[in-house]
Amino acid sequence: MEFKHVSVLLEECINGLEIKTNGIYVDGTMGGAGHSIEIAKRLGEGGRLIGIDQDLNAINASKERLQEFNNVTFVRNNFSNIKDILSELKIDGVDGILLDLGVSSHQLDVPERGFSYMHDAPLDMRMNRDSSFSAWDVVNGYSKLELERIIREYGEEKWASRIAEFIVAERSKSNINTTYELVNIIKAAIPASARREGPHPAKRTFQAIRIEVNREIELLEKAVNDCLDKLNKGGRLCIITFHSLEDRIVKNVYKQRENPCTCPPSFLCVCVTKKVILR
Ligand SMILES: C[S@@+](CC[C@H](N)C(=O)[O-])C[C@H]1O[C@@H](n2cnc3c(N)ncnc32)[C@H](O)[C@@H]1O
Repeated sequence: MEFKHVSVLLEECINGLEIKTNGIYVDGTMGGAGHSIEIAKRLGEGGRLIGIDQDLNAINASKERLQEFNNVTFVRNNFSNIKDILSELKIDGVDGILLDLGVSSHQLDVPERGFSYMHDAPLDMRMNRDSSFSAWDVVNGYSKLELERIIREYGEEKWASRIAEFIVAERSKSNINTTYELVNIIKAAIPASARREGPHPAKRTFQAIRIEVNREIELLEKAVNDCLDKLNKGGRLCIITFHSLEDRIVKNVYKQRENPCTCPPSFLCVCVTKKVILR
């Protein structure tokens, strides 16, 4: 299936990165290379792009899209390992990093990836398909309390408690194996009157499970700090967030690192300034 993803805040990110032709840049979430290609086009002699994604499909699609550029290094890994990735490439610091958080349209569109409540498929949702932990493990293995917490926190779902209760009741009869089985349980848990308004009733729960499977919130704070640590002086870190929790984590890290400056006098100050674009 062709890799389709419409890049968001493309111009804003490219402007925000203030790309120098001979700089080193990291796209930590390459996806379909929509942002990467615009970075690569702006690089000249001595410039380099490190493209990271934990999804092999994204890496393969990006390799194809960027085949005309010879200064791109593709790394299949989690961007939370940025320090190790750069050290392996013998790069001390970079001039800009982009993180476009979350899932790509391609991941949602491929039925067998199990990310979408719109297709019937095995419960999966792994961005990294080498991981042994999938949506099936969350749905069939988490306690009622754990399910309720992630659905409430990561899905911002007010029916979290009922959905968790219904999941636990259903799986006591037999395992829940597919996305449609889960959709039907969620629909049964949410009262009909509440189901009539707003987005698809399973949207929030699916988002929550995906975030848990891929440890998206859990890894973010350290990852943002590590990215800031790897920036050269005057370097730029652009982060596109989709979820209010991600947004809060990113802003808090920026705030801590920005002001007041707590760098000890003997240290090189790496304090940041932040610019937020809301959409
Ligand atoms: C929103 S898409 C990026 C789209 C891309 N900017 C474009 O314009 O085509 C997010 C991508 O980041 C990847 N991703 C999400 N979290 C990641 C992480 N912690 N480490 C590496 N890749 C990640 C996903 O697999 C997905 O391909």
